[in-house]
Formats: sequence, C-alpha cells, structure tokens
Amino acid sequence: NSYRVAILGATGAVGRELLELLESRNFPVSDLKLLASERSAGQRLPFKGEKLLVEPVSDAMFENVDLVLASAGGSTSKTWAPVAVEKGAVVIDNSSAFRMNPDVPLVVPEVNPQAAANHKGIIANPNCTTILMTVAVWPLHQVKPVKRIVAATYQSASGAGAQAMAEVKTQASAILEGKEPTAEVFPYPLAFNLFPHNSPLNDWGYCEEEMKMVNETRKIFDNQQIRITATCVRVPVLRAHSEAINLEFETPFSPNEAREILQKSPGVKLLEDWRKNYFPMPLEATGKDEVLVGRIRQDISHPCGLELWLCGDQIRKGAALNAVQIAELLVEENLLKPKAATYVS
Ligand code: A2P
Repeated sequence: NSYRVAILGATGAVGRELLELLESRNFPVSDLKLLASERSAGQRLPFKGEKLLVEPVSDAMFENVDLVLASAGGSTSKTWAPVAVEKGAVVIDNSSAFRMNPDVPLVVPEVNPQAAANHKGIIANPNCTTILMTVAVWPLHQVKPVKRIVAATYQSASGAGAQAMAEVKTQASAILEGKEPTAEVFPYPLAFNLFPHNSPLNDWGYCEEEMKMVNETRKIFDNQQIRITATCVRVPVLRAHSEAINLEFETPFSPNEAREILQKSPGVKLLEDWRKNYFPMPLEATGKDEVLVGRIRQDISHPCGLELWLCGDQIRKGAALNAVQIAELLVEENLLKPKAATYVS
C-alpha cells in the first residue's frame, strides 16, 4: 500500500524536515501535496529528485488525501484539521490545538503507541520538550514508578519556527559587528542572551510551555498522579533542546541500574564519558534521531532522587520525526487505510 499525503505548513522548519524524513525513511507515498499560506504559493521544494510545487491551503486540497501531517500553528490546525478529517483523511497534528482533547490520542511511539488505535481522525504530536523528556523517563518509570519530576529546560530557537532561527543568526551577526540587535519574532534578543520561555503566563506564574510539560506528560503516561514542575528557558541554540531532569521515585534508583535500562531503551542513546566530562550537547544532538542522555547521578539531596541530563533535536524527534513515526505506526497497525483499500474490504 502507499498513501496520498499532504504536508500543511510545508515551508516551515518542521514542514521541511517532514519532507526530508518521508523521503529518507522511505514512507510509502503515492502522492504528496505541499500546502502553506498564500505567501509561499509557487515555491518549490525538493522530494525524491523532483521539485514539488507549494500550494495555498484550501478545502479542495484535502480531497483524495489519506494522511495530513500538519505543522502550521494552532489556529491553522483548528481551521483545517476538521476539514481534512471530514474528507476522510487522518491528521497527525503538531500544534497544541487538540493535544488535551480527550478524543485525541497524544502519542510518543516509544511510550504509548497503543493510544493511537483510539483515534477518531486526529492524532496529536506532543510538545517538543515533553516528547524528549518522556522518551527518557518512561523506561525508568516502567521499572520503578516516578513520583515527581522537576525539570529545567534550555530550549532552542527552532521551537518558534524558521523565522526565529533566522532572527538569532541576524542578531548574532549584528552583535559581532558592534550593532544593536533587534527582535521581532522573539520578545527580546536571544543571541548571547537567554530568557524564560516566551509563552503566555497563567495565574500561578507558570508559562504555557511549562504547563504543557505537566499536562501532556500525565496524558502520555496515562497517570494523573505524577507531580511535575518545570522551568522553561530559551537559549541561543539553533535546533536542539536540553533538559536537566530530577526524578523522585518511591525507592532508591541506582544510577547504574538506570544506565542499564536506558542503554536498551528505544529512541535513547546514552552518552557519558565521566573522565572527559563529556555529556550530551545540543550540537551533538543536531540532526540525530535519538534523545541523548547522560550525567545520570544520585541526587545527593534525596535518597530516592536521580538526576539526568538530555539533549534532543527539537525539529526531528521533538516534532517531525515523532510525527512520521506515528504515521509509520498507523501503517504498521493498519490504522491508516488508503481509500482504495477501504472500498475493497
Ligand atoms: P508560509 O511559509 O506560507 O507562511 P514555522 O513554524 O517554521 O514558522 O512554519 C510555519 C508553517 O506554517 C509555514 O509553512 C507557514 O507557511 C505555514 N502557515 C502559517 N500560517 C498559515 C496559514 N494561515 N495557512 C496555511 N499555512 C500557514
């Protein structure tokens, strides 16, 4: 079987990565539509040796489409995902629009692949920081339940899109030339700087990104008891997030046992050289599929506490790769039926 696929937001940072991944992972595509706003209509993007035309999104674009990979922001998804589903497509949505909807599975294939089976047309791809954390914490949680997670994140510009990445480079050049940096996408200059995550704050002083880590992790783990708190920070890194994670278990969890587990865990690569003080770094995680984990150590402040550090490519496992893995899972589990096959069965 092969499938008629549409990428909504094809010109964006995640959209372009989706295109690359569909090709490099040889996803069975029979037809591919590249959709974006009017602004990029007429652009061409490479796929399997061809230059495919980018078209403005409209109702008609979702006719005869089996799978939509959407990464064009929340409001665009809210408008178009229901249209695509109505026309018979399955939508894997990268935005936050449907993530907490009880009818929409929120899936990290290494963690809760079974949730995908309950989809009603839309499957949500979790927040990038949450995906990376769950890939590393889930295998430990399977052995000894985690009671509490305290996370601090060091998030790249890519989470805010292609323009944000370009802005950091422009700011860096300006500063190196002795000029005043300007900020348009971000509220403040990010080059040679950092600031608490620029998402809206709630009444308790938590930003949306931090609440995503709390609520989405609980939904993915199917466990409302885990206590989670996070501090999310933007750092002048282009496309890989880092996270310092403190885990509290019911009973002690030895760093060596955690290492043995993580060494065998899907989607995780252990990277530690204690002699050289060499651990995961954003530049090393860039372009890689795995979440790099290291600096696993006993929390000296708590007998049942464990510290770890991770880095992961925000555009890849944090977004596009996770979405393509969900699509592969749908194909494997026969949850994505091409229309032709539906008529036959
Ligand atoms: P466009 O390039 O035409 O603006 P990023 O997250 O890197 O900023 O990318 C966002 C993606 O979402 C881009 O492909 C962008 O297309 C697309 N997009 C943004 N707003 C809309 C919209 N209203 N309709 C369709 N696509 C949109």
